[in-house]
Amino acid sequence: MKYTFAKRIQQLTGSPLRENAKKRQATSQVISFAYGYPSIEAFPMDTLQKISNRLYTQLDPESFLQYGATEGDPVLRRLIAKRLKTMSSIDTTTDPLIVSGSTQAIDLVIKTLCNEGDIVLCEAQTFSGAVNAIKSYGAVAQAVAFDFDSQSMDLVLLEEQLAQDEQHKIKLIYVIPTFQNPLGTSMPLEKRKALYDLACRYDVLILEDDPYGDLLYTGKAIPKIKSFDREGRVIYTGSFSKILAPSTRLGFIAAADPLMEKFGLVKQTADSHTNFYWQVMLAEFMQHYEFDAHVEQLKMLYKKQAMTMLRELATCPSELLTYITPTGGYFICCQLSEKVDPSRFYAYLETHGLAVIHGDIMSVSGVGYETYFRLNFTKPTIEEIVKGCAILTKALYQASRINQRIG
Ligand SMILES: Cc1ncc(COP(=O)(O)O)c(C=O)c1O
Repeated sequence: MKYTFAKRIQQLTGSPLRENAKKRQATSQVISFAYGYPSIEAFPMDTLQKISNRLYTQLDPESFLQYGATEGDPVLRRLIAKRLKTMSSIDTTTDPLIVSGSTQAIDLVIKTLCNEGDIVLCEAQTFSGAVNAIKSYGAVAQAVAFDFDSQSMDLVLLEEQLAQDEQHKIKLIYVIPTFQNPLGTSMPLEKRKALYDLACRYDVLILEDDPYGDLLYTGKAIPKIKSFDREGRVIYTGSFSKILAPSTRLGFIAAADPLMEKFGLVKQTADSHTNFYWQVMLAEFMQHYEFDAHVEQLKMLYKKQAMTMLRELATCPSELLTYITPTGGYFICCQLSEKVDPSRFYAYLETHGLAVIHGDIMSVSGVGYETYFRLNFTKPTIEEIVKGCAILTKALYQASRINQRIG
């Protein structure tokens, strides 16, 4: 049988992250700094067990086992709206739409707004899931170079691309302003405002993807772009994958009413609604079990892990490796200097059992970023962080073009 697949999926390649994850599961010897997974210590097992018992013994099964509203559990939606208001000064006229992770949020936004051939501007190094979602609808992910000095998409280049778009093909600017994936950077407030002003001037929407936003370890939180959105131009998405558990598949979208209405319609055809068991679990957690105190605990855990990784990286010779110090989130992005041979470096990591994410995987173009790699510090234990960084340091020396004998 010869199968003919839709044109829109022809550019899709399976997520290299998911493919690698399958392989890695078979080889337990590997220390993984690769995937954006939470620590297993981060799962609030006792609380979840108590809430789950309460659901089965005290709640009406209709509330969590029956079909429900596409928009999600009204109680949870209200709680998220309140949390957005108090923690991020984000006002919503319609309570957020509950979706199956930020992954579905991005998918629904692209499906709702982009025709084939439309363009979505993205930071040149970005979340591969978003790039795949864009491609899956025949839209084009177009890179805007990143300005590392200002920790922002290069806004001069962004404006050039917007100004050249005479046919109005650019529909959206997709950004991860806070604790970017893979870069770990946070866009300063003046850049966020300038980006917003450009979007207004050139009449495009912004998709602000913020799954890591709660996880600030040092300094002050920077206002979300959505918090100063006067025109309903910013679609804001959040997730509970990184602060509760990824398997809950709980995320949300906050946007202007006309957009929310369409996202709801499009979601109906995707999955009717997001899993109500987990929606009610989370609503109960937020109402009765101090969810924010749980997030504070996570921040302490992850800050310690981030500090350990940074301390270990600080011992690497700076003429071979540089890295961006994040103020929150899940990742540290490193760059090999021209004195290191990338293929020898990655080959050493592979044979000595340290998994990292190669820069090409987390880029729009898929090539040209081999000197960059992403490290995750939330999943490995402190002991693994120390061991893994020792392997990384050795790999640097082994792959060094300047002095083969060091190390
Ligand atoms: C920037 C970014 N957006 C979205 C997602 C998807 O998250 P979720 O588990 O909520 O689907 C991820 C996951 O790693 C991410 O890093």
